[in-house]
Amino acid sequence: MPRGEPLAATYEAPPNIALVKYWGVRDREHQVPYNSSISVTLDRLRSRTTVRFDPGLGDDDVTLNGEPATGGPRDAVVRFLDRVRTLAGVPHAAHVTSDNNFPTASGLASSASGFAALAGASTAALGLRLTDRQLSQLARFGSGSASRSVFGGFVEWRAGTRSDGSDCYARPLYGPDHWPSLVDVVLIVKGAPTKVVRSEEAMQATVATSPTFSRRLAELPVRSRKIRAAIGARDARRLFPLIMEECDSFREACETTRPSLDYLTTTSRAILGEVRALNRETGHPVAGYTHDAGAHMHVFTLVRDAPKVRRRLARLPGVERTAVLHPGPGGRRVR
Ligand code: DP6
Repeated sequence: MPRGEPLAATYEAPPNIALVKYWGVRDREHQVPYNSSISVTLDRLRSRTTVRFDPGLGDDDVTLNGEPATGGPRDAVVRFLDRVRTLAGVPHAAHVTSDNNFPTASGLASSASGFAALAGASTAALGLRLTDRQLSQLARFGSGSASRSVFGGFVEWRAGTRSDGSDCYARPLYGPDHWPSLVDVVLIVKGAPTKVVRSEEAMQATVATSPTFSRRLAELPVRSRKIRAAIGARDARRLFPLIMEECDSFREACETTRPSLDYLTTTSRAILGEVRALNRETGHPVAGYTHDAGAHMHVFTLVRDAPKVRRRLARLPGVERTAVLHPGPGGRRVR
């Protein structure tokens, strides 16, 4: 970084929704997951983060969505900045401002977009020229799913096999324009409980106590291969049942964790039932649901079926809002 340049940069990153879930960390030091995961990066939604390192500043000053961050959320940002400072050999504290163009409480993974944006902005501010792959490797230390938000379209986060985690990174499988007719009908449900256990702890509880976790791991290589192939062939009828099977396996692992992790509301469960009923009535899979560690739902379908699917699900009691999102581009530096 030339002398006198402000140590500042801005980066925007999108959220993503996993079709094959990351749930369980095998190596906490290197933040390596038990299994590779696959996601779709979503369009229109963005976290925009500006980081300015300031030699005259005593302590990191973090503002998230217009409010000074405190406690856990601030600590997570500071821990991440410490890693970047070590990498760059720079000791300065930083001003961080981050804003989402979507409500944080909407259940759309804001930790993925937030930490991908923080990784992009903080490393650019210090003149670290990382490739997108290196950026994804760094972002996972903020939040595992953030590794995937660096890229657009259909993304795989590879767990890798090396003990130092060097082959653990995300990479694009297919770009955002690969399958223009695929959409995600997002259903925001009323009264979604706020998380009592953070994902980081929750997934490790699953690893330690769920009797179904090892079976899930054993099944994943074949299921993931099939999901990749269905995406590659743009084969919705093959993809939708597979993502529901994967989501059911993830939910089963959560619910059989001790104490049980129950993320859904009555409305979420009604949506699962309605998608199954719709597919049964139609005689082939027109839609496939998935959800993360929360009550809101993502229902994938094709553009031509989206109005029908949306109408049918939107009238279920407790569905507050719906949006139709497409696969979108990945993170980028904003000049
Ligand atoms: C269910 O990436 O939020 O959404 O690494 O602890 O921050 P941390 O977890 P996070 O977990 C995501 C879990 C998931 C599945 C997924 O996105 O793959």
